[in-house]
Amino acid sequence: MVAATLLFVVFSSYTKAEFIFFGTNLWHKNDITGKEKTIPLKYAERGFNSENIEEVHDYILDHVSPYDREGVKRNLGPTTIIREEIRDKAYYDDKLLDHACPMDIRRSEKIKRSRVPDIIGIGFAKCGTGALAFLDCHPSATFRTNEPRYFDKESVLDDIIAANETGNLEALRRHRKIYASRLPHAADDELLIEKSPQYAGGKDYIRKKRALAMKIINPNVKLVAIVCDPVKRAYSQLRMKARRTAVTGFHFVFSLVLRVFLSTD
Ligand SMILES: *[C@@H]1O[C@H](CO)[C@@H](O)[C@H](O)[C@H]1NC(C)=O
Repeated sequence: MVAATLLFVVFSSYTKAEFIFFGTNLWHKNDITGKEKTIPLKYAERGFNSENIEEVHDYILDHVSPYDREGVKRNLGPTTIIREEIRDKAYYDDKLLDHACPMDIRRSEKIKRSRVPDIIGIGFAKCGTGALAFLDCHPSATFRTNEPRYFDKESVLDDIIAANETGNLEALRRHRKIYASRLPHAADDELLIEKSPQYAGGKDYIRKKRALAMKIINPNVKLVAIVCDPVKRAYSQLRMKARRTAVTGFHFVFSLVLRVFLSTD
C-alpha cells in the first residue's frame, strides 16, 4: 500500500514535469560483457529543443520568482554550446555547454566577467558531484560541469604558494586569469561553482597544499564534498575506466566479480 502510494506520487510528479533540462538523449551503458550499449532515454521527447524554445521561454518566466523575473527576462536565452561532439559524457542533448543549465536563467544585471569561483566541488569521483548541475538553473548560480582541474598538479600548487610567500602579485594574477579562463563568466553577485572531483585525491601533503593554494586564489572560497559508499564508488570508477579504454580480460572478470558481490545494476 505504501509502495503503491509512493509510486503514484513519483509517477504523478513525473507526468507534471513540463520540461526535463538535464542529461542526454542517449545513455551509454556497459552490459555484463563490458560491451557498450546505447540506450535512447524515454523522456527525450520531453526535453527542450529548438522547436519548443518559445514554450520553454514562457515556462521559465511563468515559474521564476517575481523577485528574479525582470533580471531573468533580460538574460534569458539558450546556453552557449562549447563542444558539439560526444566525448564519453554529454551534458545536454549530446552537447557540452558553457554551463550546466541548457537555458541561461540568470537574474543579475551586472556585468558577467571572467573570474575565479566562489564554490568548488572537490569530490569524490563517481559520487555524484555532477548532480550539482541542477543548481545552474537557479537565477543566482552558475555551474560549470566541464572540470577545469586547475589545482591538479603539484607544480601549480607550489607555484601559487611560492607566489603568495614572496608577494608576487603578478604571478597570482596570472594564475587567477588562467583558472578563470576555464570557467563561464559570472557577475559579482552570482555564485560561480566549479567541480573537479580529482581535487579530493592524492597524498595527504598534496591535499594540504591544494587547500592552501585554493585559499590563496580565493580566501572566501567554499568547498563542497559529496561522499558515497566506497565499494560502489570503486565499482563505478572501474566501469568508467572500462568505458574509456579498451575492455580487457581483467576488467571483465573484475567487474563480473564485483557485480555478483554487489548484486546491483
Ligand atoms: C599569503 O601570504 C600572506 C603574507 O605572507 C599570509 O599572511 C597569508 O597567510 C598567506 N595565505 C595563505 C592562505 O597562506
